[in-house]
Amino acid sequence: MTMLMFCFLIFLCETAFCQLAPSAGFQRTVVFIKRQSYPSQYVFLRGGRNDGSPIPIRHRVKPTIGSDSRYYDWSQGDNNLDWDAQENGQWNFKSFQKPGGTPLMWTTNVQGTVNVTKDGAGYTPINTMGPHYWMMDVDMDCNKTDDGWFQLKAFVVHGEKNDYISWNGNNGEWERGVEQTTCWGDHKKFSGVNNHVAKCGAINVFTYGEGTPCVVSKSFGDPLLG
Ligand SMILES: *[C@@H]1O[C@H](CO)[C@@H](O)[C@H](O)[C@H]1NC(C)=O
Ligand SMILES: *[C@@H]1O[C@H](CO)[C@@H](O)[C@H](O)[C@H]1NC(C)=O
Repeated sequence: MTMLMFCFLIFLCETAFCQLAPSAGFQRTVVFIKRQSYPSQYVFLRGGRNDGSPIPIRHRVKPTIGSDSRYYDWSQGDNNLDWDAQENGQWNFKSFQKPGGTPLMWTTNVQGTVNVTKDGAGYTPINTMGPHYWMMDVDMDCNKTDDGWFQLKAFVVHGEKNDYISWNGNNGEWERGVEQTTCWGDHKKFSGVNNHVAKCGAINVFTYGEGTPCVVSKSFGDPLLG
């Protein structure tokens, strides 16, 4: 290869091409967990790598109503998917309601007065499935996963049991262990693991407390997604 050609390739790499390559670190990663919930219940995600270490994320949704959205506040300073409730620098809602992990947005496939773009909850066109699909929509550093896969569990905070003082993000319910052997689309099994196993750079649909049904898909138009 001539020097000129080499330089040209480096140039391409510095501009568009390499940033679009699938191996690029941060990729849009969506997780839906179907969990029937009631007002004042909030579902969070906790998770990470096989060895328990955190995975860098950047929340993609910034609700336009701002701090009136719980998701808005709880997603500020939440820079990792990890196994703890509140990470260093992660905001409280209204200064006292601590997050129980990485916040999810309650979503539905039916248009109404609230929506994800405006309120951080409600209708979103990427939910083609139904109500009560709690959603994480982030760019995740796929380089820091296990070969493109990561583990997670939901944690449900019961707001109604809390007052201004005891809302500590840990007053709630862990999702029970699930054996997730197969998903439609794609799946990965780690032996001895009782967490959901999700794919980085993909759309993952799970059911709270169950191994199935689950779908792991690369494309939002996938008929498997309902
Ligand atoms: C991820 O890995 C690819 C391929 O090794 C590398 O080019 C890229 O810079 C890495 N990205 C990050 C964010 O670490
Ligand atoms: C969300 O609601 C706002 C205000 O009603 C509206 O302008 C916007 O189009 C809605 N977005 C979606 C995706 O429904």
